[in-house]
Amino acid sequence: MDFKSNGSEETQLYHAQIHLYKHVYSFISSMALKSAVELGIVDAIHKHGKPMTVPELASSLKLHPSKVSVLYRFLRLLTHDGFFAKTTVKEETAYALTPPSKLLINGESTCFAPLVKGILHPCSLDMWHSSKKWFSEEKDLALYESAMGETFFNFLNKDSESDKLGLFQGAMAADSQMFKLALKDCSHVFEGLESLVDVAGGTGVVSKLIHEEFPHIKCTVLDQPQVVANLSGTQNLNFVGGDMFKSIPPADAVLLKWVLHDWDDELSLRILKNCKEAISGKGKKGKIIIIDVSIDETSDDHELTELQLHFDMVMMTLHNGKEREKKEWKKLIYDAGFSSYKITPICGFKSLIEVYP
Ligand SMILES: C[S@@+](CC[C@H](N)C(=O)[O-])C[C@H]1O[C@@H](n2cnc3c(N)ncnc32)[C@H](O)[C@@H]1O
Repeated sequence: MDFKSNGSEETQLYHAQIHLYKHVYSFISSMALKSAVELGIVDAIHKHGKPMTVPELASSLKLHPSKVSVLYRFLRLLTHDGFFAKTTVKEETAYALTPPSKLLINGESTCFAPLVKGILHPCSLDMWHSSKKWFSEEKDLALYESAMGETFFNFLNKDSESDKLGLFQGAMAADSQMFKLALKDCSHVFEGLESLVDVAGGTGVVSKLIHEEFPHIKCTVLDQPQVVANLSGTQNLNFVGGDMFKSIPPADAVLLKWVLHDWDDELSLRILKNCKEAISGKGKKGKIIIIDVSIDETSDDHELTELQLHFDMVMMTLHNGKEREKKEWKKLIYDAGFSSYKITPICGFKSLIEVYP
């Protein structure tokens, strides 16, 4: 909403009130989306193969008859928010999927349903109630650790069978699948490489995509032992349990996708210096490939920057991490002892940053 326009005092006040209410209630859209995911609305419409009316949906989801009108009101908001499209079937209003809700179909490789459940899990929301106390603390803990008594990664990665670990890695895997489309445009980045370590690579979804495209590259996925414990590799794709703060296996290139944003500058420097050591055998031809957000408020559009700023708050509150602006990337990369880098936007809101020794 633009407050710079010269409306009357009343108009400005009304706009201000609308703006305030909109922001106070923006959690409703998030929670309605989570309800839709938990109810299985998207899967029901997808399985039906054509748009569904409210009574059809209510019956397919086995809702209590008293909740049919409630379902209609959820659908009305979610349609307004772009997750469903209204159409007419036999003179009745029916609801179809839209591109954003198609990203919530279970069983598809780009299913973000675990992300919706994970980000809106009570444990990621509860910590916000402790933010006032956190601001008064001297300790350098993330809000999550201050409120819950352990780091977010400890909570997630307790053991290889943990439900939370599965949910989180499922969310990461969906995000990584989006990289498949970007890989076509940035294949030159991987050309000429014989080996690559995907540091903190989770379940190795990105490495698998790179491996499909460049089968000759020997890919190693490094993550915490609990994460890779039950994963088996192939001839040119293997999983290694370890700690990126201690050492990283040697390779021609190191990939860091959505890793550095989890850590503050001091810890990110330690990771980058270990990466530099890992590629040292390749001399000047080694490289680090970072996939992360690069905030550019001056040239990006408002909606894109807002999303990046939300991500920044998530990284800060969960891990004491940060989404970096262009100038912060420059400082971090040069402080780690690298000599040059190149930032290219990919996947809509992220960037690919090639870093050279
Ligand atoms: C945001 S996820 C990114 C995963 C993957 N790169 C992707 O984009 O799907 C961060 C990863 O860092 C891993 N991690 C955290 N601490 C680590 C450490 N000390 N050494 C190696 N991996 C670590 C977590 O287990 C998690 O898989």
